Amino acid sequence: MEKSELTVRKLFCTPLLLCHLEGAEEINQALLQHFLSKPEQEPGRRHSNLGGWQSEDNLHTLALPAAQRLCRMVTDVVDAATAVHVPGGLIEASLAWRLNAWVNINSSGASNAVHGHAGAFWSAIYYVDDGGAGPENGGELFFYDPRGLLPAMHDPLLRFRIEGCVTAGYTEKITPEAGMLLVFPSWLLHSVDPFFGERPRVSVAFNFGTPTG
Ligand SMILES: [Fe+2]
Repeated sequence: MEKSELTVRKLFCTPLLLCHLEGAEEINQALLQHFLSKPEQEPGRRHSNLGGWQSEDNLHTLALPAAQRLCRMVTDVVDAATAVHVPGGLIEASLAWRLNAWVNINSSGASNAVHGHAGAFWSAIYYVDDGGAGPENGGELFFYDPRGLLPAMHDPLLRFRIEGCVTAGYTEKITPEAGMLLVFPSWLLHSVDPFFGERPRVSVAFNFGTPTG
C-alpha cells in the first residue's frame, strides 16, 4: 500500500489587534485626574497585580464621561473584529457584550504575574500613560505563545511556526505607548515585567464576555 504525499495544514494563528486611538489625550488626562490619587484613598483589588493598584471592574458604569467614551471606542474596535457564523457564512456580530473594565496603576516596583482572563471572549488593554515603560524602565507586556516553547525550537524538525505569524520566540513583547490599544483572545496568557519608571504606568483593562458566558 502506498500513501499519497503528506500535506501539512498550518492551522490557527493567535490574533493580536493593535491600534492607536486618535485624539484620546483629553480622555487620558481626565482618567489620570480621576484615578491617580486613588491608591492613597482605596486599597484596590488584588488579582495579577504585584504591588500595583487595581480599581473595581466597573469603569464602564461610572459617571465619568471620559470612561464612557473610552469604553465606547474600545467596544467599537471589538465589534469590528468579531464575526459570527450564520447559514451561508460569516457576518459581523452585534453582540450585547458583558463588559468589565478596570484601571491599573503600576508605580515603581510593580508588576503583573502571568495570567489570562477566564470567563471572557475578548480582552483589551489601553494605555492611558505608559509612564516611560520600555527597555530601560521595564513595565513591558509579554504575551505567551499557547504552544509553549515549540516556536522557539531551533531544530527545523522540531520547529513549529506558522508562516505569517510574527512570534519568533515563545513570547511577544509589547512596549506600552500612551493611546495604544491591544485586543486579544481572553485565554492568551500575559504578564507585565517589573516597572521602574518615575511616573506611574496607567492602563485600563477590559473583558468582553458573550451574552451566554
Ligand atoms: Fe491581564
